[in-house]
Amino acid sequence: MSKKTAKAPAKKSPKQQPAKKQASAAAKKKSSKPPARKRGPTQAESADKFALYQRSVQSPGVDIEFFDAEFQKHRGRPPLSVREDFCGTALFSTEWCKSDPRRTALGVDLDGPTLEWGRTNTLAGAPPDAVERVTLAQADVRDTSLPAVDLIVAMNFSYCIFKTREELRGYFAAAHENLVADGAFALEVYGGTEAVVELSDERELRGGLTYVWEQEKFNPINHHTLCHITWKFRDGSQLYRAFTYDWRLWTLPELGELLREAGFSSVKFYFERVEADEDDDEYLTGTGEFVEHTEIENQEAWLGYVVALK
Ligand SMILES: C[S@@+](CC[C@H](N)C(=O)[O-])C[C@H]1O[C@@H](n2cnc3c(N)ncnc32)[C@H](O)[C@@H]1O
Repeated sequence: MSKKTAKAPAKKSPKQQPAKKQASAAAKKKSSKPPARKRGPTQAESADKFALYQRSVQSPGVDIEFFDAEFQKHRGRPPLSVREDFCGTALFSTEWCKSDPRRTALGVDLDGPTLEWGRTNTLAGAPPDAVERVTLAQADVRDTSLPAVDLIVAMNFSYCIFKTREELRGYFAAAHENLVADGAFALEVYGGTEAVVELSDERELRGGLTYVWEQEKFNPINHHTLCHITWKFRDGSQLYRAFTYDWRLWTLPELGELLREAGFSSVKFYFERVEADEDDDEYLTGTGEFVEHTEIENQEAWLGYVVALK
């Protein structure tokens, strides 16, 4: 299974990478004026942005398989307790606990309504024995009073809300403090030549739904970037900029340096293996397999994980 994400690897994967770049002027004009409504709510009005988010950009199964294998390789034991930082609707935490009866998860997020959506939707759909092992905390990820765990994960680039070295190092140091002695910390990362330009990428999902990743602004001086997610529906309606991200796009060397400064003993970089697309050799397709590298060729877009060992 290839990984879904807000951004995408090289030229690519049907799941991750939007097929089209830059909507044409004609398409933009069309989408700004939906067809006349017949009756009842539009598809956008009936849609749930959190459910769409989970479907469009989260692949917890791929993440869990990778974390489990890497942790076992470096620590010689399975990771059992996880903390999902910026957990939002707690999909990763829930899937983690569903995947093994010994596993526990602590989901941490500042936003009460988002956590509540997770309780009444993500958790409500899980088996009771797994639900019992998920704890959700409305807290700051830098809160060091949280219990220590084997593995802390920060998925979908949420740590990019920290825009200064001091803030990001502070977060990393708090994570370091809240890990057990042989714990590990994993961050999801994106980059590539297309990560630093303004663009709008579209990816078709099943059911006539289109996911749009928009990089509205990128400032090369401080790497601040303003991005949005929009969904377009078959009936012409859209959930325009349903989510907005005001981030600093951190580079891999900066992340490595700050993780070491925060006390981690070793930092490893993993990238998704890609292969030629069967239907179009201009495109590369993600395989869902992540491999450690110390050197890679830069691509238009890449996805990866940074894993820091305590
Ligand atoms: C992009 S969403 C989370 C996505 C999810 N982790 C995923 O894998 O797709 C970012 C979340 O971070 C939360 N957040 C922002 N700053 C935070 C902080 N300092 N501590 C905890 N949560 C925070 C927001 O409330 C929001 O729900």
